[in-house]
Amino acid sequence: MVICECLTVPKESANRILSYLLKGDMVRKDLKISSDLENVHIPVKRAVSIAGTSKCKLDFFERDLPVSPSERVNLKLKKIGIKGKFPGKFIKLGHSLFIKENRMPTFPGDAYRIIAEEFHASSIYLDRGIGESPIREPDVVLLWGKGGITTHEENGIFYSFDPTKVMFSPGNVNSRIGESRGDLGPKTVVDMFAGIGYFSLQIAIGSRGARVYACELNPNSYRYLVQNIEKNRLEMSITPLPGDCRSSTVGISADYILMGHFDSLNFLSAALRMSHNGTVINMHILCDTASLDTHWQKIQEKAGHLGYLVDYVGQKLVKSYGPHLWHVSTKMIVVRTL
Ligand SMILES: C[S@@+](CC[C@H](N)C(=O)[O-])C[C@H]1O[C@@H](n2cnc3c(N)ncnc32)[C@H](O)[C@@H]1O
Repeated sequence: MVICECLTVPKESANRILSYLLKGDMVRKDLKISSDLENVHIPVKRAVSIAGTSKCKLDFFERDLPVSPSERVNLKLKKIGIKGKFPGKFIKLGHSLFIKENRMPTFPGDAYRIIAEEFHASSIYLDRGIGESPIREPDVVLLWGKGGITTHEENGIFYSFDPTKVMFSPGNVNSRIGESRGDLGPKTVVDMFAGIGYFSLQIAIGSRGARVYACELNPNSYRYLVQNIEKNRLEMSITPLPGDCRSSTVGISADYILMGHFDSLNFLSAALRMSHNGTVINMHILCDTASLDTHWQKIQEKAGHLGYLVDYVGQKLVKSYGPHLWHVSTKMIVVRTL
């Protein structure tokens, strides 16, 4: 047993106070919470004063905490005298690990071998973000391992790509899966910015009968898009279109248009050109917190200038993109051309 500072809390308010303490990282998770008939005793890291509770020191039983893979790596690194900590946050796609540049210390080669073994990874990459060019090339550097093509499985679909050449954003997973659940039926779908097929493949699998046109400008991404369509046997549902979506989609009449690019507002005229009454357009944009309620009006105004009337369907926050900045997906329906 271990003597520890604790908060004694009446049973009826224990859950509320415990969740407050956990949020503030104030609870000693290596010790077991105890209770008597009326009170719960919560071991805390430091003395805290909360109305309706009392402070004291008590004996607590220890408990074995599960050790995360990152913690296991850090224990092994420490054992062989390597300084620096492997971060708790990283991304694993297929057999490749991606760590943000600002989280990764400089390690000697031995450390990467230990990390790779723990995570069953064959390559470790430093993720320096995504370039500003329209084709969104990643700034990803191979730190360790053989590199090359990574194959990632998501929702039963296999995506192959070279992470140093094309982007793959796992933060969009929920949004991608949501897309595939839409009631699209036997409709014509245009994915104007298909990348390696993130949305197109999910839509083709989830909406049986839909004909999906997948546009992609970056020749590297286009190559993987075609391979991924073939690998997942979706040749009958998806037509890949190379080049600029503003020209490759001429002549198509779409029921559903997906615009997965933050510059989508500048492509609205191309989307509207292939729309008809009832076409749904899903635009992905970057929006600051203050404009979340109003950005829609900007889209509607622009559509009006282009001669189209569009109605708001809904908006989803895909993910936070920085302080007060959101990746938003906004859905609208074309009501009629003016
Ligand atoms: C943000 S990325 C892919 C987004 C993907 N839908 C997702 O959610 O992960 C945008 C893609 O659009 C492609 N792209 C950019 N401009 C384009 C254009 N004018 N026509 C077709 N594709 C374009 C880029 O090469 C890139 O692969």
